[in-house]
Amino acid sequence: MGVEALLLLCLLFTLLLFSFKMYKKKAQLPPGPTPWFLLGNLLQKNVLPLSRNYAKLFDKWGPIFTVWLGPKPMVVLCGYEVVKDALLDHAEEFGGRPALPFSDAVNHYKGKAFDLRKYMRIAVSNVLCSVVFGSRFDYTDQVLWEMLRIIEDFVSYFASYMGQIYNVFPKIMPYLPGQHKKIFGDFEKMYAYINERVESHRETLDYQDPRDYIDCFLMKSEKEQTNHEAIYTQEELIICVQGLFIAGSLSTSEVLGRALLVMARLPHIQEKVQREIDEVVGANRIPGMEDRVRMPYTNAVLHEIQRYEKGSLESFPRETTCPTKFRGYLIPQGTTVCSEIGSVHFDPLQWENPEEFDPGHFLDEKGQFRNRVAFMPFSAGKRACPGEALARMELFLFFSVLLQNFTFQLIGDAKDKDIFTLYEDSGLKTGDLPLKFTRRSI
Ligand code: HEM
Repeated sequence: MGVEALLLLCLLFTLLLFSFKMYKKKAQLPPGPTPWFLLGNLLQKNVLPLSRNYAKLFDKWGPIFTVWLGPKPMVVLCGYEVVKDALLDHAEEFGGRPALPFSDAVNHYKGKAFDLRKYMRIAVSNVLCSVVFGSRFDYTDQVLWEMLRIIEDFVSYFASYMGQIYNVFPKIMPYLPGQHKKIFGDFEKMYAYINERVESHRETLDYQDPRDYIDCFLMKSEKEQTNHEAIYTQEELIICVQGLFIAGSLSTSEVLGRALLVMARLPHIQEKVQREIDEVVGANRIPGMEDRVRMPYTNAVLHEIQRYEKGSLESFPRETTCPTKFRGYLIPQGTTVCSEIGSVHFDPLQWENPEEFDPGHFLDEKGQFRNRVAFMPFSAGKRACPGEALARMELFLFFSVLLQNFTFQLIGDAKDKDIFTLYEDSGLKTGDLPLKFTRRSI
């Protein structure tokens, strides 16, 4: 037998073994759309992205189904009952986080006249800077602008189709050209910058008066020096700081941007919010957190803005930490699991009129604010967003101070778009928001 024939035989054998393993795994998991060999459902436009397709998949396969990201299965959970059952009632079992090779690869590298959206990003990031670095940046500071650009490129890539492909084929992608190469280089710069800040913190650390997150981390690492597990290393600190900026800056400012779009789209709601701000806060001071309890309508509007998003955690899923018996299935340990938060927020069993933008979802008959169990923009359970309290404060304070001072209107063809289209069109990399604003006279 010639060498070519032998190679062909080996290849055939590998492919057969591979498909056998894939179909064996498939038999154990909840059913779902048929995956293609090697590619799974990756190229099937009626399956991915899930945020756009989950409703049809739910109708066909029920609230628990499996999709395949290349050769890797991902179990998808839909609807309040199932998502709550997993995240809260089986918190330990569904509390893992799968390896996200693109994110890990990045961590490995050390190293108009007024653009409203950019300034909101800077404002929100400056809050994180105060917490982490103990100081804010000037709005014209090039270092902060550059960090935000790097984070924006990373988050857009991470959530994109190419980002998913990277996570499916992490061994091949580093050798191919593409946007990921530039992102790795950028992260080296960011790493070096944070490293510098950590060093200067170390030199000026006062144990009696910790200034910020970095100081607290450094103090903890001193205390844990004898611990062999070495969790509190300098590298870990830099990765944590990067993680906080990645998770905390764009997420909050994007919600804020959407909030303004909704206000401009629904002027009657904007007026009602402004009336409440005028009555409770007036014009002579800025709103504070203590005002929130006296502003149920504004609070309800903000909640409804976050509910009315067909969000999905498909690019930031969970992983089962042990073999998990769940609703008639035995999901193997180490299986990727994704909760469709959009399906919870539009669950007709939980919301009176889910398809309508209605702040009344969060108000009782007396007009007082009421929490809803099926409100989960920060997810739920063991691995829920640790920045929720900070994000909620930021949303309330920025939103109310902006509406206290300005009225927002849509411009151009955005005037004719519905809220979903406005949300979709205002994706991360689409430039400024289609808004104009006029100062209020109060
Ligand atoms: C409106 C703003 C925000 C939203 C909607 C949001 C939402 C989320 C969601 C849905 C998750 C995934 C949780 C899960 O897997 O169950 C998450 C994780 C995370 N968020 Fe947020 N977040 C926001 C703001 C923030 C802020 C301000 C910070 C930092 C101060 C932050 C830090 C994190 C971190 C570190 C994680 C990863 C947690 C882990 O893996 O255990 N987030 N966030």
